Amino acid sequence: MKTIEIKKTKDRKDLIGTKPLKEHYNVLITEPTILTKDGKIVAVYDKIPESYKELAKKISVTTNPNRSKRQGSGVPTVSSVFGAIAKNGVRIATCRGTTRNKDEKENFAAITKLAKLVSDKYKEILPEQYKKDVEITRSLVEADYLFGDLPFTTFNANKNQLIKYHIDRGNLKGVMSNVLISRRGVSGGELVFPEYGFAFAQQDGFYSVFDGEKEVHGVADCKFISKDAYRCSFVFYTLDQMKHCAPYLEEMESEKKHYTKKNNNRSKTFGMSKKEFASNKWQEENGTE
Ligand SMILES: [Fe+2]
Repeated sequence: MKTIEIKKTKDRKDLIGTKPLKEHYNVLITEPTILTKDGKIVAVYDKIPESYKELAKKISVTTNPNRSKRQGSGVPTVSSVFGAIAKNGVRIATCRGTTRNKDEKENFAAITKLAKLVSDKYKEILPEQYKKDVEITRSLVEADYLFGDLPFTTFNANKNQLIKYHIDRGNLKGVMSNVLISRRGVSGGELVFPEYGFAFAQQDGFYSVFDGEKEVHGVADCKFISKDAYRCSFVFYTLDQMKHCAPYLEEMESEKKHYTKKNNNRSKTFGMSKKEFASNKWQEENGTE
C-alpha cells in the first residue's frame, strides 16, 4: 500500500461549521494509502472486497425508506442507527438495541458484517491503536452492549448527509473514527482535512480510519447525477454515553419502575428481552467468515 507523510500546515478551526471547498486541499487520495505523521501511522484509506461492496449497496438502497427528510437539493437524507444506543433524557429511556435492529433485521446483519470487516482491517493496519480502542471500550462499556472484539457498539448508515467541517464529539474519548462509503451516480463528496491540505476521494467501497476527535474534517458538496443517485457513509463508533449504561436487564428493570402501566408498552415497543437483544446482536456475528 502507498504511504504518504502528512504535516499540519495551519490551524483551521475557524472553518468549523462551513462547507469544505476545493481550495482547502491540493492532494486528493484515490487509492489505498497509509498516512503517517512523524513516521507514525495516523490514518488509513483502503478498499473493501467486492462482496462487501454489494452488502453496503443493499443497505444503502433499502434502509429506512419511509422516514427520510429532504435536504436543500431535494435529495432525501436518512440516518439509520443500528447496534446499541445509550439512554438520552426522555427520548431514549434506557440503554438498548436500536429499533432499526428489529425493523431491518437483514440490514442489521449486513451492517454487522461490515463492522467486523472494518474492525479486522483496522486491527491489521493499526494493531496498537486497535488494541487500545478495544481496551478502552471494554473497560468502560458493559459487555451486554459489546460485539465481541469490535471496538464499537453502534453503526450508522448516513445517506446523503453532507456534514460541514467539524470535530467528532460524543464518541468515546481516544477512539478512532471509522467510515465506509457506498455511492453511485454522485460526483464530489470528498472528505476534506483542511489543516493538512488533503482529502479522501470517498469512492464507492472505500473505508477510512482517522482521528476525528482531533482533526477538523468535513464532506464536500455532491452532485446527484442520476435519479437513483445516493452517497451513504457507514460510521462505526461507541457513544461516550454508553459508559453510563447499566447491564441490559437492570436497564429494563429501571424502565419498568419509571413508567406507568400504560407507558410500560414502551418496553414492548422499543425494548427487547435480554435474550432477544442478545440473539439479534449475535445473529450474524457467529456466521461471519
Ligand atoms: Fe466526523
